[in-house]
This record gives sequence, structure tokens and C-alpha cells, in this order.
Amino acid sequence: MKNIEANKVEINRQLEYIKKVAKINDGKNYTYYILTMGCQLNENDSEKLCGMAEQMGYTKVAEMNDADLIIFNTCCIRENAEDRLFGKLGEAKKVKEKRNSIIAIGGCMMQEKNMTDKIHESYPFVDILFGTHTLHKFPEDLYKAITTNKKLEDILDIDGEIIEGLPIKRDDEIKASVTIMNGCNNFCSYCIVPYVRGRERSRAPKDIIEEVRCLAKQGYKEITLLGQNVNSYLRVENEKGIEYEKYEGVSSFATLLRAVNKVDGIERIRFVSPHPKDFTDDVIEAIRDCDKVCKLVHLPLQSGSTNVLKVMNRKYSKEQYLNLVEKMKENIPNLTLSTDIIVGFPGETDEDFEDTLDVVKKVNFEQVYMFIYSRRAGTPGDKMENQVPDNIKHKRFDRLKELVESQIEKRNKEYVGTIQKVLVEGKSKTNENTYTGRTDSNKVVIFEGKEENIGKVLDVKIISEHMWYLKGAIVNG
Ligand code: 5AD
Ligand code: SF4
Repeated sequence: MKNIEANKVEINRQLEYIKKVAKINDGKNYTYYILTMGCQLNENDSEKLCGMAEQMGYTKVAEMNDADLIIFNTCCIRENAEDRLFGKLGEAKKVKEKRNSIIAIGGCMMQEKNMTDKIHESYPFVDILFGTHTLHKFPEDLYKAITTNKKLEDILDIDGEIIEGLPIKRDDEIKASVTIMNGCNNFCSYCIVPYVRGRERSRAPKDIIEEVRCLAKQGYKEITLLGQNVNSYLRVENEKGIEYEKYEGVSSFATLLRAVNKVDGIERIRFVSPHPKDFTDDVIEAIRDCDKVCKLVHLPLQSGSTNVLKVMNRKYSKEQYLNLVEKMKENIPNLTLSTDIIVGFPGETDEDFEDTLDVVKKVNFEQVYMFIYSRRAGTPGDKMENQVPDNIKHKRFDRLKELVESQIEKRNKEYVGTIQKVLVEGKSKTNENTYTGRTDSNKVVIFEGKEENIGKVLDVKIISEHMWYLKGAIVNG
């Protein structure tokens, strides 16, 4: 766990750099643009980058073309993100030529040596490269880039400390994400995350609870607890005897859920992503007991075939996954589930894929995030010889998509006529008088409402269904 004193010193150093840059920028009306790729953890990191940028005198703009500071917060979980970054860098070069903008690239992709090499070689106009563990040093990097006009690479080993306490500018006023742990120890054989985000490290219970309390005071209603493997929160620390300050009885993910559930003002708690192998009974009980914890659980399946799961190093079988789902359904009233599935992992046969479809049919997920397997250099999956041809991957993906969409359609119909608790998030973008919110199961609902409904949980009767949203009418409020 982190050294509190060292953390404070580092934060103060960065706050000094924030002041220095703000002084240089004073009166210049500079702007910044940020592009965030990938998962909610990256979005949360981007909120921190925005907080720092704004305190340094930059105002956010929606178009890269108008920006004096251009930040790319990258992801490397699948290949297409790289092509996207290279495309965007071409655009950024033109903006730089026009207004001498500073270009910074951070995030997971920068932890890969082949990527930083490629950027040095092919995109020499980039000013700052920073990694996932040097994000907090962005003010210092920016100051140096401005004052020395030199190219800066600030990428640390992947197990760096989590530095707390820098400014943050949140995207939303109702929902907020709170990172509870960083890194991953699982090494699923398709996944690059353990190589770029390092080993698991949990944040101190006190820091998390205080952040949630602070968010509640600011009026936030929904908290999403984030981590690559949330349900092994504090596991490494407990196993290795690494000391952390005891707070509110928190010593595991289950006890963290219970503590967050007690924070006044928070209405809803979600979490992503847990690992099925770590879904212990105490977590199931905490979800059941805590009224604020949503009963939609994201439970990544990845594959329904025991053979493929073994090669993926997931450490559960098809049967164990289905048994876990059964146990959860028995113990948690109104449980709904969402999942991640990869199709076309090396060696996946037609029979293996049928097993995936079988699990999807049996579990009847509320939402399925589907991915075509993407080879990641440095992972065991990339070295496997029995790669699945692209046309088969795509065919399987389309079949899975068809099944999932037919299930969602059916489920949506079941919502019609029911009354759902909806947390009102804001005005809908298309119509002045309509508002949007979400059910406990994370379905978008659109309905006529009033400004004062925002931030409240209301009973909404579902009137009609569409593929990606439901229409409703407020019953109370
Ligand atoms: N190819 C395709 N999908 C992947 N995921 C992770 N690595 C890969 C990969 N190499 C998916 C997994 C994970 C989600 C965040 O991204 O399903 O749960
Ligand atoms: Fe990747 Fe597996 Fe870790 Fe998730 S649990 S981040 S899929 S290695």
C-alpha cells in the first residue's frame, strides 16, 4: 500500500507545476482537446487529466482543430485502437502546424515498447509520451515540454504507486467512477492488460470511502467502483501481509461494498469488472443485503467452452460458470447479468462456439459485449499456431450477435407494463421535454419529466420498447 508521506510530497510537487504552467498560460485563453479510448478506467484517468489541464488554464473544446493542447489517452486491448490513434495523429499534425499545439499521448498503449518506438520513428512531432503510472506527473511533463521545447518520454515500470489527490474534472453530475484497484494478476492468455497495467494494487479503504463521501456531498447519486478485477480488492495485500490503514471494517471487496452502501446521499452502486473465479459467497451476500448495490452484475464469460476457457487461463469451466450464475440467481432477488464474450480465440472449434451460444441461451444476459479475438503481441494467445481465420471469426460473431439481439428484444418486451425504479440522469439530447435515466439493470429509459426530477430515483411505468432504450411515463414525482 502506498506511502502516505511520499504521496503528499509528490502531489505538492505537481501542484507547484500546475501553478507554473497556469502562470505561463495566464491570459492566453488556451484550449485543450482530449480523446479517450477504451474502458471506464481510462475514462476515469481522463477525468484526472481534464482536472489538471483546466487548472493549468486550458478550456475544453470538442474539436481537435481548435485545440492548443491535444491529449490522446490510449487503450491497447484490441488492435483497432492503434489504427485509430495513427489516423488521429495525422490530423493532430496539421493542427500543430497551424497553431503550434502541444501533443501528448498517454495510457496503456504507451506501456508497449513497440508503440513508443513507432511514435518516435513515424510521428516525431509528438511532444509528450506518458504511461499509465506517470499520469499524475502530467503537469511536470507539460511544463518541461513548454519550457524546453524538447520531446519528453515519461514512462515508468508498470507497478508504480497510485498517487492520490490531484484535481479531477468529472464528466457527469449524477454518476461518478471511483477506481478501487489497479493492475491485474490473472494473465488471461489473450489479454495485454497485465503487461501494461502491472500487478494488482488496491487503494486504501479510507481513500475510497472518503472519495465516495465527497462525491455524495457534491450531489452525485451513482458510484461505479472500477478495477480490472474488483472482487480481488485487497486480496494481494491480505495474502502478502502488506499493511493498510483499517477503516470502517473494510478488508475485502464484500466489506467495501457494505461500507460504500452506508454513505448517505448515494443511491446506486455498480462495479466493473469482477472475475467469476473470485466471486465468493461473501460478495453474493453483500450484493443481496446492500439496498444501493444494483442487481445487475457484469460477469465476464469470455467463452462458454471449457476447453477454450482452459487455454484462456480463466480458471473456471462452463459448468462452474453456470453453477455460479445459478447460485447468484437463487440468492439475489431480481438479479440480471451482463457479460463480455470473445469469439475466435485460437483453437476455438465449431463445437466450442456452440458451447458459448449454449451459455448465452441459458443465462439470458441483459447485455452482452461481444469482441472478435484480436492478437496482442507479447501475450500467449498471439504465439498460438491455431489462429482462427478471419472469415470464421466474423461468421461466429454475426451468429452470436443475432442470438443476443433476439434475446434483448424478448427481454425488452417483458419490461413493457412493469414499473421500474429509474435514476434520472438529465435531459435527453433530442427533445426538450424528455428526460433520460436508467433502470437498476442499466436499461436506458426515456420519458417526459421536469428539471427537478434530475438526480432522483422515480417509479417509471414502461410503455414501449425499442432495441436500445425503453419509453416510459413517471408514476410518482
Ligand atoms: N481480443 C478481443 N477481446 C479482448 N478482450 C480483452 N483482450 C482481448 C483481445 N485480445 C475483451 C475481453 C475483456 C474486455 C474488456 O475486452 O472480453 O473482458
Ligand atoms: Fe485481462 Fe483477464 Fe486481467 Fe481481465 S482478468 S484484465 S481479461 S488478464
